[in-house]
Amino acid sequence: KKPVTVHTLQAMRDKGEKISMLTCYDASFSALMDRSGVDTVLIGDSLGMVCQGHQSTLPVTIGDIAYHTASVARGNQTMLIVADMPFGTYATPVAAFDNAVKLMQAGAHMVKLEGGAWLADTIRLLTERGIPVCAHLGLTPQSVHQMGGYKVQGKTLEGAELLHADAKAVQAAGASLLVLEAIPATLGAEVTAQLHIPTIGIGAGVDCSGQVLVMHDMLGVFPGHKAKFVKNFMDGAASVEDAVRAYVAAVRDQSFPAAEHCF
Ligand code: KIV
Ligand code: NA
Repeated sequence: KKPVTVHTLQAMRDKGEKISMLTCYDASFSALMDRSGVDTVLIGDSLGMVCQGHQSTLPVTIGDIAYHTASVARGNQTMLIVADMPFGTYATPVAAFDNAVKLMQAGAHMVKLEGGAWLADTIRLLTERGIPVCAHLGLTPQSVHQMGGYKVQGKTLEGAELLHADAKAVQAAGASLLVLEAIPATLGAEVTAQLHIPTIGIGAGVDCSGQVLVMHDMLGVFPGHKAKFVKNFMDGAASVEDAVRAYVAAVRDQSFPAAEHCF
C-alpha cells in the first residue's frame, strides 16, 4: 500500500472511488486501521466525548490533539493523518497557524476546522504556508450551544443555500477536503457535485466522495447517544479488524450508508 496523500484522495474522487475515513486516537488502532485498508484517519476532537467522557468537544485542548496525533502517527505507515483543530484554537488566522504547526509537528498531514466563509482568510493563510486544510460544514459540534443542540442542518432552503455558499468559499480559499455532517442526503449529493474537491460524509448520504465514522461508534463501544448515521460494524464481525475491513468494504461498494442512516 502506497502512502495516501492529498493527491491520492483527489484522484479517488475523480475516478469515483469512495474514500474511507475513521477517527483514530492511538498507535494500536492506527496500525490495525492501516493494515485493514483505511485511507485516512482523523484525530477528532470527538476524543473529548469518547475518550475523556465529556458531554461535548469544547473542553479538548491543542495539547490533547497533539498527544493523540503523535500516538496515531507512530502506529501509521500509509494513511493520511488529519487532526482536528479544537474549539477556540483558530479564532484568528495567526492563532490558527501557530496551533496548526503544533499538530503538523506531532505528525498530522492535514488539519480540520469547523466553519465556512468566515474561515476563508485562515484557510488561505494555512494552505499558502504548506498546511493542507479539511473544512467541516453542516452540524459542527463545536457550535453546539450556538445551534441549540446536535441537530440536522441545511433542512431549510435558506440553510441549504448557506451551505452551498460556505462549501464554495472554503474550496476557493484552498481547502483540499470537506467533511459534511448531518445534512439531508440530497444536499450532500448536490454539494459534492458542485465542488471539485472530495467531500467526506457523516450523516450526509452515500453520494459524498467518502465516509467517516467515529471509531467507538462503529465498534459499538460508545455508551452515549447513538446517532441515526451510526452503524455498528461489530455486528456479525469475528474481530475488530474484521469490523474495520467490513466498514472499508461497505464504503467502497456504497452499501454504507444505507437509507436508514440518512436524513
Ligand atoms: O471529531 C470528530 O470525530 C469529527 C468527525 C465526526 C468528522 O469531527
Ligand atoms: Na471533530
